Amino acid sequence: MNTFYSLILSWFKENKRDLPWRGNVDSYQIYLSEIMLQQTRVQAVIPYFNRFIQEVPSFYDLANIAEDKLFKLWEGLGYYSRAKNLKKCAIEIVNHHNGVFPNSYKDAIQLPGIGAYTAGAILSRAYNLKYAAVDGNVLRIFTRLNLDDSDILKESTKKQYKEYIESIMDKDYGAFNEALMDLGATICMPKVALCDKCPLNDLCKAYKENKVFEFPKKKIKPEKEYFEYSMIFITDQDRYIFLPKEDGVLKGLNAPILLDSYMSEFEIIDSIKEKYDLDIQNITPIKKGKHIFSHQLWNIKAYIAYTRDLKDYPSYSIEEINTQIALPTAYKKFLPF
Ligand code: ADE
Repeated sequence: MNTFYSLILSWFKENKRDLPWRGNVDSYQIYLSEIMLQQTRVQAVIPYFNRFIQEVPSFYDLANIAEDKLFKLWEGLGYYSRAKNLKKCAIEIVNHHNGVFPNSYKDAIQLPGIGAYTAGAILSRAYNLKYAAVDGNVLRIFTRLNLDDSDILKESTKKQYKEYIESIMDKDYGAFNEALMDLGATICMPKVALCDKCPLNDLCKAYKENKVFEFPKKKIKPEKEYFEYSMIFITDQDRYIFLPKEDGVLKGLNAPILLDSYMSEFEIIDSIKEKYDLDIQNITPIKKGKHIFSHQLWNIKAYIAYTRDLKDYPSYSIEEINTQIALPTAYKKFLPF
């Protein structure tokens, strides 16, 4: 066992916070706690969590909940997209995973509202799988330990630490992640650091050099506004739908279907039905990439989706797309042909 691991785990055993979702192995309760803890402080979450598990005790109950009841239970927690995703996620878990949170990273990350951090936190806690949960708290601890001036706003910094932490985690992965969360929340805090109580102070370079509050480094955010889109080329195997974009950059110009943010294929099919009343029979990812405008950066996952009926939407053959219609490069470079 490495020193780091044993120091932090023995500290955690003695000092862990007594929280209602701890010591629990029910994947539903673990999932619910991690979603509630996204962007919301522990103390605020506790009463919501307790009430929620009383009234909605399983993924089955959550999948069948009336939206007004869900929003009522969520009222005051903020970020309502989490509540919407909660129900969508439960429906997917009931339909595709027998009502139990999936025990693979690949399946977990496909679910609505689950990113790398939440997937790592849930899988390590529920199934003791070796995944790190890296957020700003964890990056603060590690950049201080290492006097690391990497920009913690960069995805690459997060990714490097995720790999590194997964290489030093041992045996009790869920406890390890929760130990880091507690250390970040109670000892190695942003504006206060109780270094003399910290189990890692002997290993901490920032502590030794008296530079704790110089870390982490956040470089100035890029000025470009950042967007994530799912870009869907809908076809009946002959013609492709393009619609004038309704707003924002490239407004009024032909565009494939653009849905806000990355989604699972299941969600895309649902959104297309809801927004455009089109029935998608099959959807396949084709390309992933970015497009940079002067003031915006788009990260794009492109898909081809088949429907038997394009209804009355404007549609074009490959020949027409290549020779007649104006199509901005932002879309052209993701075309499936
Ligand atoms: N923040 C996010 N997940 C947490 C957990 N499981 N315990 C404490 N704080 C958290």
